[in-house]
Amino acid sequence: MVQRRKTFRQFLQQDQGLDTDLMMLLEDIATACRAISDHVRNGAFANVLGAADSTNVQGEEQKKLDVIADEEFMLHCANSTRVAALVSEEVDDVHWLKDAPQAGDFLVYFDPLDGSSNVDVNLSVGSIFSIMRLKEAVTPSDAAVLCPGTEQICAGYAIYGRSTGLVITTGSGVHGFTYETGTGEFLLTQPEMTVPPKTVEYAINSARETFWYDPIRHYIADCVAGKDGPRGTKFNMRWTASMVADVHRILTRGGVFLYPMDSGNEATGGKLRLMYEANPMGMLIEQAGGAASTGTSRILEVAPQSHHQRVPVILGSRDEIAQIEAYHSQD
Ligand code: F6P
Repeated sequence: MVQRRKTFRQFLQQDQGLDTDLMMLLEDIATACRAISDHVRNGAFANVLGAADSTNVQGEEQKKLDVIADEEFMLHCANSTRVAALVSEEVDDVHWLKDAPQAGDFLVYFDPLDGSSNVDVNLSVGSIFSIMRLKEAVTPSDAAVLCPGTEQICAGYAIYGRSTGLVITTGSGVHGFTYETGTGEFLLTQPEMTVPPKTVEYAINSARETFWYDPIRHYIADCVAGKDGPRGTKFNMRWTASMVADVHRILTRGGVFLYPMDSGNEATGGKLRLMYEANPMGMLIEQAGGAASTGTSRILEVAPQSHHQRVPVILGSRDEIAQIEAYHSQD
């Protein structure tokens, strides 16, 4: 008899030993991702492609799907009576759901549609999320959501690509699920995803070369020099302009992803957001055996100053991240 794969719920219940509140929140997030997946897939029919004629808090042009994806996350995460607050890339203010949050309540951070410039050209996009748990009762304020990435109890993303995937960690490894369209279930397809320590593949937006500082300039020059260069190895470059797609590739076959601080983004602290991009991806990569760094320090230990804070991001195969950090300490 064919063995049926584990469903997301069975996995959370049987393998992860999560408490009911966290399990239900993760199921609500999976429901939001299912709904977003359908919007993304039906895009051209449902008139959801293109610009929304608005900008988000980051000053970026919003796509219609950015707005729709944000609504799905807001709607489904608000189901749980244990969610204290939601922090979305698309919304300026922290969205408090409770007037008097208690110890044990959740903070949920999310980028509802990452890489959305890829939507109109039918390339992979995704949703990223991070969950923390309040250690004590707090009064709602912006400062109350500023916990470092080491305090995450769960991180994950959905990828809307050739198939829809959901990848999560609750602190014991990284596990991948695939959306089965017939049943509407996420089924466990990639248990224990790992990032090999070595790689010959890097991902960076090389059009920013003119802005790079020396450590990145020298590292990339040495990779490009290939077999005859100081690394003595032929490297490949892959950049999708969708962090979820690049991280998914790294979790599948290794590699490094770089969005470093450069002279063009230094004024804002980098490009990617700490609380709902760098932290959750950093936790996933570390849990899979990789490393996540700003270039000089561990991303998960960055002390957040604001909920939309940006940070340099360099993550992936462990040995290669150590190399890149060495370029930073030499230059
Ligand atoms: O805003 C996030 C993001 O879209 C990431 O998903 C992606 O890695 C990056 O920005 C793309 O940046 P750029 O437009 O510089 O290629």
